[in-house]
Amino acid sequence: MRILVVDDELSMREVLDILLTRAGYQVTTASSVERAIDVMTGPGTDLVVSDMKLGQGSGLEVLRAARALPAAPEVILITAYGTPETAVRAMREGAYGYIRKPIDNEELKALVQKALEKHEIVRENVALRSSLAPGTGNFWIGQSPSMRAVWALVEKVAASPRATVLITGESGTGKELVARAIHWKSARSGQPFVPVNCAALAEGVLESELFGHVKGAFTGATSDRAGLMVSAGEGTVLLDEIGDMPLPTQVKLLRVLQERRVKPVGSSAEIPFEARVLAATNKRLDAEVAAGRFRQDLLYRLNVIAVELPALRERPGDVEVLAKFFLAHHAEELGRPQLHFAPATLSILELYGFPGNVRQLQNIVERAATLSDGDRLEPNTLPPALRGEADTQAGSGELTLGTGFSLERHLDSAERRYLLEALRRSEGVKTRAAELLGLTFRSFRYRLAKHGLSEKEEPGS
Ligand SMILES: Nc1ncnc2c1ncn2[C@@H]1O[C@H](COP(=O)(O)OP(=O)(O)OP(=O)(O)O)[C@@H](O)[C@H]1O
Ligand SMILES: [Mg+2]
Repeated sequence: MRILVVDDELSMREVLDILLTRAGYQVTTASSVERAIDVMTGPGTDLVVSDMKLGQGSGLEVLRAARALPAAPEVILITAYGTPETAVRAMREGAYGYIRKPIDNEELKALVQKALEKHEIVRENVALRSSLAPGTGNFWIGQSPSMRAVWALVEKVAASPRATVLITGESGTGKELVARAIHWKSARSGQPFVPVNCAALAEGVLESELFGHVKGAFTGATSDRAGLMVSAGEGTVLLDEIGDMPLPTQVKLLRVLQERRVKPVGSSAEIPFEARVLAATNKRLDAEVAAGRFRQDLLYRLNVIAVELPALRERPGDVEVLAKFFLAHHAEELGRPQLHFAPATLSILELYGFPGNVRQLQNIVERAATLSDGDRLEPNTLPPALRGEADTQAGSGELTLGTGFSLERHLDSAERRYLLEALRRSEGVKTRAAELLGLTFRSFRYRLAKHGLSEKEEPGS
């Protein structure tokens, strides 16, 4: 990680250079605003630590120049004691943080580390972010092997012009986001993306929405109206909650997909359409077929390409990156860029089962950010249900037995918690972690694999 130190005083540059180099960073120094801009416009500065007073210039100028760069580095400003207004101003202009003189080394190192963590999260996602539509505020976060695989599939699917895609996954796993990504990454991205909720509309209304109707087809049909399949042009139609589509509509849809023509309600003429059709559901359609609620022929037709989103609890490592990403987002919105998680809070999140998946995590993080008085989000900012579960796992607090209790599940999550904690304390050194747990290396490795944590020990593998 590369840090640029900007200060007009040679002695300060030296002190900061030594401090940060010892902490393991690559440090460059500059003595003026102009020199700083020269360095920053070159490749690869991740963070700028600048004094606010720079001879004739000001740290604010460095900050503005940094913010204007395409891969904007984070900026930390050093302010003189007793000038709170400039510090506030700097934060408003987008500084990551500030530190007061005289500098407390530990405080500076902690702030630097947090700033770089944020930079890393943002940077890791730049490639993917730029592939989603600009200005939508939609990003795709995930680094677990299963989500990387999903992303690779999305890219392939987007490149095929017409194939129907069925997106499945529990509620809140990101099905709609995947649908939008397929659209944005495809040649159709300049055309409309039209989501239709098949569960929300009654049969007749749904059919007229999708296929259109002619004047007089039913009471209230005072003029001809094109359906969404046609008015989407060469865009993309998402048939959301398709598992809830009424059976008679399913029959018509199958025909429509086969012929690539729609027949508006009340009309006998068929109209061709160009849009690509995507479908999403949180139901298991094979089970729906078995129960007689979904047509097998339609399932075959939709299922040409299937994208299955794994539940969040099955994506080791993603909870943490997603949580940090959502927090960075809220912190920005709240104007509190210093917000960060206490390690205990992150461990509780990592252990939680998230029945509501990514959406639930998003809500939990937003709530925690809003409730927190300080900059550090402590476990007490999490909903009681999560904390309660963690207490029980840790062995303190009341043991709750009864409906829904499963000893197996609790032992399992306790085991996972200990494995993660040992890895954290041993900084990923497996032999040391095994020792901490009183396990043989073999048994430790076996348990890691069982919990899908094997990749945690070797980041980047
Ligand atoms: N990989 C991800 N990276 C970033 N944000 C995500 C990711 N997956 C989901 N989200 C966010 O989580 C929320 C829920 O996602 P989405 O609406 O796509 O889920 P869904 O599967 O359609 O849920 P439902 O079945 O309830 O309709 C959205 O705000 C979405 O932006
Ligand atoms: Mg959805």
